[in-house]
Amino acid sequence: MASIFITGSTDGLGQMAARELIKSGHDVYLHARNADRAGDARKALPEAAGVLVADLNDLDATRRLAEEANAIGTFDTVIHNAAVYRVNSSLIARVNVLSPYLLTCLMHQPKQLVYLSSNDHTWGKWKASELGKDKPDMTYADSKLLIASFALAVARKWPDVRSNAIDPGWVPTKMGGSSAPDDLDKGYATQVWLADGKDPKAGVSGRYLYHKRDGELQDQARDTHKQEALIDTCAQITGVPFPDQA
Ligand SMILES: NC(=O)c1ccc[n+]([C@@H]2O[C@H](COP(=O)([O-])OP(=O)(O)OC[C@H]3O[C@@H](n4cnc5c(N)ncnc54)[C@H](OP(=O)(O)O)[C@@H]3O)[C@@H](O)[C@H]2O)c1
Repeated sequence: MASIFITGSTDGLGQMAARELIKSGHDVYLHARNADRAGDARKALPEAAGVLVADLNDLDATRRLAEEANAIGTFDTVIHNAAVYRVNSSLIARVNVLSPYLLTCLMHQPKQLVYLSSNDHTWGKWKASELGKDKPDMTYADSKLLIASFALAVARKWPDVRSNAIDPGWVPTKMGGSSAPDDLDKGYATQVWLADGKDPKAGVSGRYLYHKRDGELQDQARDTHKQEALIDTCAQITGVPFPDQA
């Protein structure tokens, strides 16, 4: 049985992955943006081991979330799933990039990290230097390029921690919309497969996965100089340096 923490698990792919992992007997901790949503999450998945609360748009709340998660212990897997789509660019920068950076740095190092990226990253532009601005020039696609790059950077810098990015496909959730064409079940199957860990083939790291296979990742995301610049920028903005491997 593994212990798993999933951000943004009150809805959509986060909640679906949590449900599957609970069914398989794992200890799953959920995460909600506020107390009301935490109540909804508890009702939807009463067998969850717990629900942590933090608005990831608030970096101080994200720091407190890391402390609360650390008080529970060290997770086997953390799935950085929460994200926002059609909202203003400062929210996109904080929720989609800076909060997963902070949680990665401040939480006890798990055995495995999973970051939800998107095929939209394909048309994303490299905007790491925008992250700290009041009104950053950053689209959802840009943020998903950065988070895929960060997932690969973590895999490179922490060889003892498996770290992968996932494109779940365009699937019909609140974010994907009702006309999304891809298979909803496949949208969370890769995260579940990695976190469940029973299949030896799931022991991969440093990959960008689409439906359990290698997806098409922009070359920029693999550029180690860009990865280092992204980490330096996030460290400067948050005041939290990227830690060495424990
Ligand atoms: N659906 C797709 O077609 C698609 C395609 C490619 C990639 N993805 C990626 O897959 C992941 C999951 O997407 P989804 O489709 O399941 O999205 P979703 O249905 O919109 O769910 C997003 C989750 O994140 C939470 N969240 C959003 N902002 C938050 C904040 N400020 N603080 C705390 N929690 C917050 C939401 O909470 P509330 O329930 O309270 O809103 C919800 O639990 C995302 O990273 C997304 O970018 C999705």
